Amino acid sequence: MSEVIVKEIFITEPEYGGVYDLREEVLRKPLGLSLENEDLSADETDTILAAMQDGNVIGCVMLQPKDNETIKLRQMAVTPAMQGKNIGRLLVQHAEEMARHRNYTRIILHARDIAEGFYKKLGYTTLPGEKFTEVGIPHVVMEKTLKP
Ligand SMILES: CC(C)(COP(=O)(O)OP(=O)(O)OC[C@H]1O[C@@H](n2cnc3c(N)ncnc32)[C@H](O)[C@@H]1OP(=O)(O)O)[C@@H](O)C(=O)NCCC(=O)NCCS
Repeated sequence: MSEVIVKEIFITEPEYGGVYDLREEVLRKPLGLSLENEDLSADETDTILAAMQDGNVIGCVMLQPKDNETIKLRQMAVTPAMQGKNIGRLLVQHAEEMARHRNYTRIILHARDIAEGFYKKLGYTTLPGEKFTEVGIPHVVMEKTLKP
């Protein structure tokens, strides 16, 4: 497998197109939805991390500050051909490192219930409470306290 790197990208960069396309293919099209119908203004201020291989975006995740302590992890996706090869783990590790570096102490996220096991493997805990619907499918809230 050729080298996979994770880097921060900005909406002004060509890689943002790759991140957009990946989110559309992995997170929206299978649900019959499109990012075209969403307000993407948060993309301008969120931190966007892309996993890159041979110049292609193969994974992404975004971080959105909630308050001084807490940052939200969102839009986690790995291209289908590369799923199960630790790219998701690598992206979450980088996101946690960046959050820690910026003095956040807690990450929260809304996990699709089919992805709950993935986040559990990475040390996230499901908060008590009902499952709720987002993008038409069941989700749970999960969190992880970041060790300094
Ligand atoms: C969920 C997703 C981001 C995981 O990324 P990935 O690169 O495939 O996962 P990794 O290879 O890094 O897996 C890390 C560990 O989690 C496990 N894992 C991965 N996906 C899992 C899932 N859906 N349920 C349970 N465990 C899972 C792996 O088996 C691995 O465990 P191991 O350490 O025992 O080998 C990716 O499969 C994906 O994009 N899925 C479709 C979109 C999606 O559901 N996004 C999440 C929205 S909340």
